[in-house]
Amino acid sequence: MKAIVQQAYGPPDVLQLAEVPMPEPKDDEVRIKMVATTVTSADVRLRAFDVPGMFWLPARLVMGISKPRKAILGVEFAGTVDAIGKDVTRFKVGDAVFGQHVYGCYAQYKCVPETGAIALKPETIDFAQAAGVAFGGLTALHFLRKAGIAAGQDILIYGASGAVGTAAVQLARHFGARVTAVASAANGDLLRSLGADVVIDYAATDCTQGSARYDIVMDTVGKLSFARARAVMKPVSRYVPLVMQPADIAHMLRSALVGGQKVVAGTSGDNQTDLETLAALIASGHYRPVIDRQYRLEDIQAAHAYVDTGRKKGAVVVLI
Ligand SMILES: NC(=O)c1ccc[n+]([C@@H]2O[C@H](COP(=O)([O-])OP(=O)(O)OC[C@H]3O[C@@H](n4cnc5c(N)ncnc54)[C@H](OP(=O)(O)O)[C@@H]3O)[C@@H](O)[C@H]2O)c1
Repeated sequence: MKAIVQQAYGPPDVLQLAEVPMPEPKDDEVRIKMVATTVTSADVRLRAFDVPGMFWLPARLVMGISKPRKAILGVEFAGTVDAIGKDVTRFKVGDAVFGQHVYGCYAQYKCVPETGAIALKPETIDFAQAAGVAFGGLTALHFLRKAGIAAGQDILIYGASGAVGTAAVQLARHFGARVTAVASAANGDLLRSLGADVVIDYAATDCTQGSARYDIVMDTVGKLSFARARAVMKPVSRYVPLVMQPADIAHMLRSALVGGQKVVAGTSGDNQTDLETLAALIASGHYRPVIDRQYRLEDIQAAHAYVDTGRKKGAVVVLI
């Protein structure tokens, strides 16, 4: 089968189209004939090995010292089940599915455990849209719940127009919160259409100088520190940094013991129940994946170069 392989860390041109062996599903796995994947912010970081200095050594040990241990990137998938292992009971050949599984999605076929983050594709969206659901949606859902999102709360989402941000805006609204979204002016209409009550253009207004106070401040882009966010946080509130800085670890430990303004951080995972929640919200019209540009698999370098700009809206899709 065709796949995009990476034999070194570096710029987009380390990604090359190659012929690789077809994967065979294990007993508990389904094999998916891929229709679409995405280029996530995590993919470009892994490709370039863009990790904070303090995580450099542990990350190299996990990901590969001199070159990536896993040669095929890609975490989001949408396609059709074309083979199943002998113990699989939840899916059958021909099912249209979507989800998230770490690595291996830049390929024509991908094997996924049936208990992983995989669900039937809602009929209301196509494969390209389905490929762009899991990464942002699962992350946003995990961290909103961890922060204790509840009806009537006020939430500030900084970096609201990316994959996690566009998901967080919609889900926070779904949970009944009042949403203030921070993004560049060009993304204002998009965010209002997703349900944001207030949109702040970060180039024109400093969101930490206003009179509004928030129960939750979520920063998806690593640009709003806890020290600055505190100015607009209520006495009892949560700060959620998606891109954790070294200072956040100290704040997290200290705020766990004292203080009403707590730091909530960590990593989200592949959660099947949460994916089914997202699928149900899509099917009922309460959530929509935001899709930016679409590329062909052969043009993966261009897709990575675009995501490298840090300015994508929602998900960048790659059609296979
Ligand atoms: N902890 C975890 O488990 C976990 C899981 C998933 C993702 N993450 C992390 O979460 C982060 C966000 O992921 P993502 O996929 O949502 O990113 P993304 O889609 O690449 O985010 C792009 C968005 O960031 C916005 N942006 C760029 N600079 C900005 C600034 N100075 N101020 C405000 N907005 C700005 C851009 O909006 P404008 O064009 O309007 O500026 C753009 O729409 C990534 O760093 C990722 O690694 C963490």
